[in-house]
Amino acid sequence: MKKFSIFFLALAVVMVAFTAGCQSTKVDIGIVLPTKDEPRWVQDEARFTAALADTDYSVEILFSQGSTATELSNVETLISKGITVLIICAQDGDAAGAAVEKAKAEGITVIAYDRLITNTEAVDYYVTFDSVAVGEAQGQYLVDHATGAGNPLYLYSGAATDNNAFLFFEGAWNVLQPKIADGTFVIKNSAEAVGLQANATLTRTQQSSIIGQITTNWDFNTALSLAQSNLTATTAADKGDVFILAPNDGTARAIADAFAADTDVTSYYVTGQDAEIASVQYIIDGKQSMTVFKDVRTLVADAIAMAVTVLEGGTPTTTGSYDNGSIDVPAKQTAVVVVDQANVRAALIDSGYYAETEFTFPA
Ligand code: BGC
Repeated sequence: MKKFSIFFLALAVVMVAFTAGCQSTKVDIGIVLPTKDEPRWVQDEARFTAALADTDYSVEILFSQGSTATELSNVETLISKGITVLIICAQDGDAAGAAVEKAKAEGITVIAYDRLITNTEAVDYYVTFDSVAVGEAQGQYLVDHATGAGNPLYLYSGAATDNNAFLFFEGAWNVLQPKIADGTFVIKNSAEAVGLQANATLTRTQQSSIIGQITTNWDFNTALSLAQSNLTATTAADKGDVFILAPNDGTARAIADAFAADTDVTSYYVTGQDAEIASVQYIIDGKQSMTVFKDVRTLVADAIAMAVTVLEGGTPTTTGSYDNGSIDVPAKQTAVVVVDQANVRAALIDSGYYAETEFTFPA
């Protein structure tokens, strides 16, 4: 009998301790980011951590490491910790639907961060940069630096699982297509794009057929080997002074390295986006032509402001909406800034975004 009551007493102590433990791990805002393997998302994590340093709400950030399965289990972990708001940048826009539907079923408010989650009703809000404008800025940069006719053009895109890859390509096509149609540029690495070059606008299916040939999958190694095989498949006459649409900084550096190593390439212009530190150095060194600076501080501030509004029982303000294939998702959109050698210091260092000590400037 005595042994029995000691057992129950011990059990009660363990249960109290366990409950207290559970309460102390309660999280208000859960954040899921796609991968630590790209500087872009490590940057977002750092900016989130800085912005949340003095919030009263508890926050947990998890990375999906390029895996939809990990993304789902991250969301499940955060649901079990009692989150009220989920801020999620999807690994795969369609596949993430299953994860956010689980969150939604628990009454959690879902904010898609940077990448839209597609073909589901379980997205409440979307905070994003103007991704069509990103692609337009990339295309415009190439147009502004091309003279005469017949300039070789090499096209590369992001991952087909990322809705943004379509928006970036759409923006670039808006600007490049008239200059392909008038002979300023000649596409060298996509038969699908050549076949569609008379079309001022493309359907999603047409975009997919081109992206299928030019995708980097947002992966540096894929970008490098695709650029190398494009350069092997083309002749010296397809090279010389070349123009390259690269979708982001990581892939731009890989593609630039491939083109720089080809002796038939006399000069190249290559685009990028994200203002990653390594690409800012490439711009300073003349190895990458431009980047599209997306001030992550603004995106983070918008996402947190939305989350806090929800936690305090309010309704976030939005500035427009995005059709995700199922619903129009109310969205808050941020503008982007073009950076090249001419304004790199003003835009990224004088603005306080990066410390000067991160870079080596020519003496
Ligand atoms: C983001 C880019 C990023 C890319 C690869 C896109 O969805 O908008 O900033 O470079 O994914 O991670």
